[in-house]
Amino acid sequence: MTPVASVPADLDQWLTAHQGDAVDELFAFLRIPSVSARSEHAGDCRTAAEWLAARLSHAGFTTEIMDTPGHPVVLGEWRGAGPDAPTLLVYGHYDVQPAEPLELWTSPAFEPEVRDGRIYARGSVDDKGQLYLHVKALEAHLAVRGTLPVNVIVLAEGEEEVGSVNLEAFLEQHRERLRCDGVVISDSTMFAPGVPSILSSLRGLAYVQIDVRGSTSDLHSGMYGGAVVNPAMALARILSTLHDDNGRVAIAGFYDAVQAWPESVRAQMRTLPFNEEHFRDEVGAPALGGERGYSVLERLWTRPTCEVNGLLSGYTGEGAKTVLPAVAMAKVSFRLVPDQNPTVVEQLVAEHVKRVTPPGVTATVTPLHGGRPWRSELGGPLHEAGVSALHAAFGTAPVITGEGGSIPVVGDFERILGAPVLLMGFGLPGENAHAPDEWISAENFRQGMRAAATLLDQYGAAKSR
Ligand code: BES
Ligand code: ZN
Repeated sequence: MTPVASVPADLDQWLTAHQGDAVDELFAFLRIPSVSARSEHAGDCRTAAEWLAARLSHAGFTTEIMDTPGHPVVLGEWRGAGPDAPTLLVYGHYDVQPAEPLELWTSPAFEPEVRDGRIYARGSVDDKGQLYLHVKALEAHLAVRGTLPVNVIVLAEGEEEVGSVNLEAFLEQHRERLRCDGVVISDSTMFAPGVPSILSSLRGLAYVQIDVRGSTSDLHSGMYGGAVVNPAMALARILSTLHDDNGRVAIAGFYDAVQAWPESVRAQMRTLPFNEEHFRDEVGAPALGGERGYSVLERLWTRPTCEVNGLLSGYTGEGAKTVLPAVAMAKVSFRLVPDQNPTVVEQLVAEHVKRVTPPGVTATVTPLHGGRPWRSELGGPLHEAGVSALHAAFGTAPVITGEGGSIPVVGDFERILGAPVLLMGFGLPGENAHAPDEWISAENFRQGMRAAATLLDQYGAAKSR
């Protein structure tokens, strides 16, 4: 058994004394609208990268802003522990999702505000707050002790929310420089308030766009309707073939690579206090749905899915317009589980759509982005250090959870850098990530800094034992 550590008093004092600064600085970070999906925000993404690099330099890191074909990567390095000490890589993302619909925010998305112990802003929890708590933890060590117990690399990217398309190549290209013994990421949620959590799995993603085309231009629906195939109806028919009546994805071969979930992990899951009715209440839907034969947590964490993320066709403005649209479009994403492969799934989808497209229209399937699913082997010094650090900060041992979302690069870290990944998140259910009124609990931001600071000590001690 790992002895339960406490948060080192020197670091704890510094973090308490600088809590106000930490929040002020996070506010400055949150005011930069670094929306990676929108080209008009490319300058803001760079500004966010520069802001972060400046904070890392201030903490005592050597920093570099490294260009990629997309938004830049911020690389911070502190190697004062020497070549024999372990190296920990801290990964996070400084980019955020678009803030729309803006009118649904209680306070503007890029004007952070604290209400009821929550810091509201786009990116507060996903991921600026969770990234910055690590920066403050590192700063605490260097300010108080003038040193860190391990070498540290901070890698912050600006394209996580658009699929980390350039990061895999970046890791390959800088493999030697990024060599490390472990990776820690805070870009996920805790199971419940006061229940620290370590993530043991993430789903992968295959995201495609389906475009259906009929006539060369929109047509009068009275003069032509009935004699010309309607692309909106054709698309609806295509989409209706994606699931069977049991909520399973009805694409041939889709489940071929799906591995059974280890019984030990499923047993763990059953011990978590999860109430499906509370969950239904939280999402506000009249009833829950999904694949028959699985609990809600199993559906979310262990099963692959197919979801329409966007639909567009015809007239959608005020009142009525009698028109037969020429085109229809759907954005469709698939969440994947081990060992499904995004490229293979894209191909299966394209074949399926080809097979079910009715005559009279053409359909094309364009892959947008993808990421591999991930499941960890729990255990080892980094995991143990994470357990101790969370226990110390929150006063209770962490639970092991799964996750329905994706962090595409996690599998790449293991594959390319050969390093285990620890996912300790500080978000909470209902945090509105990707939605209006996103927030991070101010308390969790604070506990996260304490946990991250403790993790460094624990990891240093574990690795040198
Ligand atoms: N932080 C999220 C992923 C996440 C959410 C992990 C909740 C654990 C708990 C991440 O920033 C994200 O949103 N990822 C995208 C990836 C996609 C754009 C490739 C996702 O899951 O939709
Ligand atoms: Zn996100």
